[in-house]
Amino acid sequence: MTQETSSTETGARTGVLSARFSEKTHDLMEKINASIGYDKRLWRQDITGSLAHAEMLRNRKIIDEADYQAIRTGLESVYAEIESGEFVFKTELEDIHMNVESRLRELIGAPAGRLHTARSRNDQVATDLRLWLRDATDEIIELLTQFQQALLKKAEANIETIMPGFTHLQAAQPVSFAHHLLAYVETAKRDQSRFQDARKRLNECPLGAAALAGTPHPIDRFFTAEKLGFDAPTRNSLDSVSARDFALEFMANAAICGVHLSRFCEEIVIWMTPQFGFVSLSDRWTTGSSIMPQKKNPDAAELVRAKTGRLNGNLIALLTVMKGLPLAYSKDMQEDKEALFDTVDTIRIALSAMCGMVDDLQARPEKMLAAAHTGHCVATDVADWLVTKAGLPFREAYNATGKMVRFADEHGVGLHEIPIEAMQAIEPKITMKILEVLTPHASVSARKSYGGTNFDAVRKQIEQGKILCGL
Ligand code: ARG
Repeated sequence: MTQETSSTETGARTGVLSARFSEKTHDLMEKINASIGYDKRLWRQDITGSLAHAEMLRNRKIIDEADYQAIRTGLESVYAEIESGEFVFKTELEDIHMNVESRLRELIGAPAGRLHTARSRNDQVATDLRLWLRDATDEIIELLTQFQQALLKKAEANIETIMPGFTHLQAAQPVSFAHHLLAYVETAKRDQSRFQDARKRLNECPLGAAALAGTPHPIDRFFTAEKLGFDAPTRNSLDSVSARDFALEFMANAAICGVHLSRFCEEIVIWMTPQFGFVSLSDRWTTGSSIMPQKKNPDAAELVRAKTGRLNGNLIALLTVMKGLPLAYSKDMQEDKEALFDTVDTIRIALSAMCGMVDDLQARPEKMLAAAHTGHCVATDVADWLVTKAGLPFREAYNATGKMVRFADEHGVGLHEIPIEAMQAIEPKITMKILEVLTPHASVSARKSYGGTNFDAVRKQIEQGKILCGL
């Protein structure tokens, strides 16, 4: 690292990478090349990684104690400067790595030049990004726990709240509202386990792979890996600097999670319409219209639904960047960061908003129950009664019930309002007893099969869910 002298001699370039060059960079080259505008977010990880690297270099006697101490205190000063906001990030220094190293040189002089021994920006950025994403992953895992907790609490308050369950968005069979909410506990649990699983693969340390081939210096990669909280060093230096599937996995997991949230949000939007009126959100989670004074819009739900676009787009962007890249590092990979950062920011705010909305959501049981009385939601219960109590094969029972539905529609009544004689004309084995199953409450109670919506089964789901997410 002797390039600073040459740069001042020629005046052609500033910065630590100037030795080989005699011409100044084109302004646009500087602009397209620089990542500092966004990768400054990696500053903590960059300095933490450098501290571990320097300590290892000292331990292995690659640098001496005095240089190590100078580097360590210098890096700590840089850390403090960035933290306090007084650090000046420079575009001409390209990225966070060069910005930190250059400032270190200003602060401590010559020993700074020894820090980059046995290291390259290629393994450095891969390490920084894994460290950064590990923290982000932990945060998202925690948010998913909070989301499940919010759902479980809301479910607990709504076990006996009956709504129509839908298929094709047509009222299908009555279900407990809690059961519906608990469906999203399941998706959140799987989303969470995907992040946990990806975290295991992410948590290997590329530092020491150097540019691509390793280094002749007697480094100790196991030391730096452990120091930085990784499970192990990565095994292949080429792969270490080329791999971005840890970022892709996070983005894919976030995209899937976003799809789940968007489905729930779509339901909130539908449920909030005056036509459905199943739920309400308070003023805290809604906005008004600038022209229509009566409006109360579920904008947060709509926005979480829409954020799926960014999450999917970011994933496709990085998949496309990585596709067809030869080993090892190419500058293309610098394009990983904005998409990844945006995905983290997006899934963070989406999950946080979901927690708030679920907490705020108020069911309107009378509207839900009224809807559960429409659309002949208990028709399957009639067919099931004919199977169980009258011994009909299901397909015959289904046909008889179909005729009853037609009768009810022709006469503008519900199934429970059909005169018993008319029912018996369709199927003679029907008795008055059938009326007992013709209520939404009976329909829900009857569904005792494992995973079904029966009230006690729902209570058990809630108990298990609470244990799993520490409630
Ligand atoms: N800013 C670069 C990135 O984000 C750091 C690695 C640069 N490596 C290189 N060989 N130019 O990928």
